[in-house]
Amino acid sequence: MKIVTTAAGMQRLARGWQGQGMKVGFVPTMGYLHAGHISLVERARRLVGRAGVVVVSIYVNPTQFAPHEDLAKYPRDFKRDSALCRAAGVDVIFAPPDPEMYPGRATGDYSTYVVEETLAQGMEGAARPTHFRGVTTVVAKLFHLVLPTVAVFGAKDWQQAAVVQRMVRDLNFPLRLVVAPTHREADGLAMSSRNKYLSAEERPQATILWRAMQRAKAAVREAENGAVAAAALKQELAALIATQPAARLDYVEFFDPATLRPVAEVRRGAQLALAVFVGRTRLIDNGRV
Ligand code: PAJ
Repeated sequence: MKIVTTAAGMQRLARGWQGQGMKVGFVPTMGYLHAGHISLVERARRLVGRAGVVVVSIYVNPTQFAPHEDLAKYPRDFKRDSALCRAAGVDVIFAPPDPEMYPGRATGDYSTYVVEETLAQGMEGAARPTHFRGVTTVVAKLFHLVLPTVAVFGAKDWQQAAVVQRMVRDLNFPLRLVVAPTHREADGLAMSSRNKYLSAEERPQATILWRAMQRAKAAVREAENGAVAAAALKQELAALIATQPAARLDYVEFFDPATLRPVAEVRRGAQLALAVFVGRTRLIDNGRV
């Protein structure tokens, strides 16, 4: 397993693979890897085969964090991450320092961003206004450096995968994007690097996102005509979440999984997304109703 830390070094390697017609599977991450990330690595390996190469990037991207968010304390453990990658059969870790990804940014000298203007508006985009601009920018840059044949993203961040998929289409990136299912703890909590922030009292309360999703499914299943008014169901889920003393709902949305447009009537096949603060930790999750 190789560890590459410069943009030029990564691109040189990728152009070599491209010249040899090799398939490249790519999993972008911010590190502090868990079984969810590793499931994406395994999917990438299946997609490119043994003759292909699998690249994982580990980079805590500053441009997707707002000034008041958790950039400085975002968990990092490169030693552990690289051991997990090695065990999972990763060929290359790309782990650049900030000046490699954003030359000049420290002195206000970086000025090019990629913006998706529609799918990035609601939900995470509304709650975190500059977030997706940072995501699309860094992912576009990573795609230019790694030159993947296929990139694997997690369904855990549904809107992110949709926004990146749209960028790939709109800007003609020559790659296929695959969205892999959400990995969960035994009690339903979606695996996330941020789960590390949860205290012993908060951790059991964090299953409220999973329980809310199950409640929504049951409500639609039990509805006589197979449909429930989104507004009423949102209220019911908000009340359920409020039963947890440490939980505070940020948003709950029912939407079309392809267009991300909110729906007024929730039926089977609608997507539900939730953002909930548990203590000071902001958790997101989503699932098909
Ligand atoms: P990060 O939060 O590290 O997630 C990296 C990838 O792992 C994303 O595609 C995410 O959806 C996926 N993932 C996270 N938790 C998962 C789980 N429990 N099951 C399956 N997949 C999961 O998302 C980012 O980093 C960044 O925004 C990034 C795309 C790297 C750009 O900086």
